[in-house]
Amino acid sequence: MTKERQHIDLRSDTCTLPTPEMRQRMAEAEVGDDVYGDDPTIAQLEKYTAELLGKEAALFVVSGTMANQIAIILATRPGDEVIVHKYAHPAHHEAGAVGANAGVNLVFVSGEGGCIDIDEMEGFVRPDAHYLAQTSMLMVENTQNMAGGRVVPVDHMQKLYERAKAHELTVHLDGARIFNASVASGTPVQDFAACADTVSFCLSKGLGAPIGSMLCGSKETIRKARRTRTRLGGAWRQAGMLAAAGLYALETNIGGLAADHRRARVLSEAIEEFGVFSIPHPVDTNIIFMDTVQEGVLGGRELEAALKREGILANAVSPRGVRFVTHLGITDEDIEHTINALGRIIASG
Ligand SMILES: Cc1ncc(COP(=O)(O)O)c(C=O)c1O
Repeated sequence: MTKERQHIDLRSDTCTLPTPEMRQRMAEAEVGDDVYGDDPTIAQLEKYTAELLGKEAALFVVSGTMANQIAIILATRPGDEVIVHKYAHPAHHEAGAVGANAGVNLVFVSGEGGCIDIDEMEGFVRPDAHYLAQTSMLMVENTQNMAGGRVVPVDHMQKLYERAKAHELTVHLDGARIFNASVASGTPVQDFAACADTVSFCLSKGLGAPIGSMLCGSKETIRKARRTRTRLGGAWRQAGMLAAAGLYALETNIGGLAADHRRARVLSEAIEEFGVFSIPHPVDTNIIFMDTVQEGVLGGRELEAALKREGILANAVSPRGVRFVTHLGITDEDIEHTINALGRIIASG
């Protein structure tokens, strides 16, 4: 059974709990040993996902981190370089996996709103010389988490893809929240996917599944990816129960992301109206970063603790900064309660 909720949990869209309907679907899933190719529900999820993204094939993996790692391992050799935005997830929140697993270096590029600067990116592609590292991959993140869930517009992604291909780079899209990008921008998800050779996205974030990510690409890439997944210890057995949650999430929860975005906008506008906080990044989707800019008003960890006393969980991200993320476990009333709690915290000085 789902435990009764203790807090309004705005730490991350990974904090959703499976609904009774999702659990029912999981309980009823047909399963088999996937190493033997016997799990029909995993096969169904992989087929459904490939069609949804407009790619030839897809692979179910345990996490977004594993999907990114497999994509990098397949497109590089140790010593190569991968160009990423300086905010890219593997640079900050994958425990150094790129160095440990692929033996590659990341090259950081800047760019407004999480959009990689195209000319700067091109400037980092190494010429072909025996004393230089080889640039093998460009990784694009959409939405860009650390830029406040910003959407990278599809025309920018197309330009990046063309420029990267002119240098024979493999392009990987870390689309952990690509459905948020699609819903917020009205761009079909296939159009984003067409701007990359491989695409990963997470079932376990705003879509509400308890676990799992998908890696999509050509049949040949996914055939190889299966072996790499085994090498990383990620081969599944009767995981159709988990795949069933993923299928349910894709069939049921994409439309609901629009409500998450609306709630994030309501919260961010109210935060700005208090006049003591700033919102450093425009709120395109479900992620809000805020900074306390007025002396004497709590920020960072102190604000996180004060919110917790009000029954609200959020993440301190810097000495004055806090992050909120909306998701399908958050209601309009929760947002109202959070706004009122912030008002009380400011008033209590
Ligand atoms: C942009 C991005 N990529 C990848 C990941 C990794 O996903 P996971 O936590 O499933 O490893 C995350 C997780 O927050 C993310 O935000």
